[in-house]
Amino acid sequence: MSDRISLDYSRMLASATAGRGIDDARIDSFAARFRDVCADVERRRTAGELGFFALPYERQVVEQIRSFADGLGQAYDTVVVLGIGGSALGTIALQNALLKPHWNELDGEGRDYFPRLYILDNVDPSTIGPLLDRLDPRTTLYNVISKSGTTAETMAQFMIVRERLRAALDDDHYRSHLIFTTDPERGVLRRLADAEGIATLPVPADVGGRFSVLSAVGLLPAALAGIDVGKLLEGAAAMDERCRTDDLRANPAGMFAALQYLAHAEHDAPIHVMMAYTDRLYSIADWFRQLWAESLGKQYDRSAGEVFRGPTPVKALGATDQHSQVQLYIEGPFDKTITFLTVTEPALDVAVPEIYADVDELSYLGGRTLGELLDAERQATAAALAGRGRMNMTIELPRINAHAIGQLIMMLQIATIHAGVLYDVDPLDQPGVELGKQLTYGLMGRAGFEAQRPVEDQARRVVK
Ligand code: PA5
Repeated sequence: MSDRISLDYSRMLASATAGRGIDDARIDSFAARFRDVCADVERRRTAGELGFFALPYERQVVEQIRSFADGLGQAYDTVVVLGIGGSALGTIALQNALLKPHWNELDGEGRDYFPRLYILDNVDPSTIGPLLDRLDPRTTLYNVISKSGTTAETMAQFMIVRERLRAALDDDHYRSHLIFTTDPERGVLRRLADAEGIATLPVPADVGGRFSVLSAVGLLPAALAGIDVGKLLEGAAAMDERCRTDDLRANPAGMFAALQYLAHAEHDAPIHVMMAYTDRLYSIADWFRQLWAESLGKQYDRSAGEVFRGPTPVKALGATDQHSQVQLYIEGPFDKTITFLTVTEPALDVAVPEIYADVDELSYLGGRTLGELLDAERQATAAALAGRGRMNMTIELPRINAHAIGQLIMMLQIATIHAGVLYDVDPLDQPGVELGKQLTYGLMGRAGFEAQRPVEDQARRVVK
């Protein structure tokens, strides 16, 4: 079987969706526009504006990460990532896709003696307090990840952890329980690392948070937990090569971006659902949600015209959401596309016992497997959607391993850049996120941000 992931877009087409989808001929007429998209992306890539493209080829960083993971990393039985957004979601996706299920509940042998891995991605005290209380600082490594090195959530997590480490260990030893992943030059984390002698790994200056999972941001925690980061990057490089063609129909990232864009711009479908038919890929849908939303949701286009543009990504899980969301997807407004994530050869299956042979409502299940049931549910949902005029497509992974996940991540990142050109917005900035950060600094009393407090609404109305 090929190790390439595939994109089946048949059910995005009018022919499969009672005339509601995209005409096949429209894809042909869009091909010239796509060639311009590719030329634009290639120009920016060559100019060094799109740093994430280089990550699959950064062999030196991989060696640095591997030697850290194989050496010092082995001394810890728990790794905690302190980070948020683009500094956490990719690593969560890698963890859930590539580590054994329920990783942190397994004993040492079950984890092949690799450490437990916790990724905080929030500052809710009701979660973080009990977790930190439970962990033994003497056997825990804290990887503080912040591209900017200033984000309030991550810095607060870090300050709490640092004091706990200092209370439990002497002044010399606390440092070896910390490693910072941050901008090579800027930010307070970089200054603290230099001042306190804390080890660091770089987030390349030209790689933004949500495009950083294949940098040290995702690779260090992944390598520490035993994920084959070399294979992850090989998969990403293979996808990069595949996506260098400007032949639209041969380019999986280009097709994904073009179909989503056409569905939005020409078929009134601004809501883009990614529905994983395996728990292991659900966090990929979560990671993608941030990538698509933060990259494409913008007030201004690339000529600074006010446009208020962007699709709304939604994550969903099959078969669970068949009993929650799918009623809306099949019968509600025609404003969505659904992208299924599926796996040809799941690693595990569970047989349903052949009992109740004389009970018609149950006998068809006996002797089948949960994997078969899940896949039948996916096929049924895709067919039902198309039959009711709802556009859907399927990304299929041959199996879930580091190579396939590397391909998928790279494909969706490249698609986001293509979509940025199509929507005519800058996919690399996030002024809305920055505004929220600044207002938080103002509310929390950070010097220099006094003017940045939210305006009090005098006409507040509250139902109590
Ligand atoms: O993608 C982005 O740029 C953001 O989601 C950031 O990752 C997030 O705000 C965290 O920022 P930082 O890594 O600078 O702490």
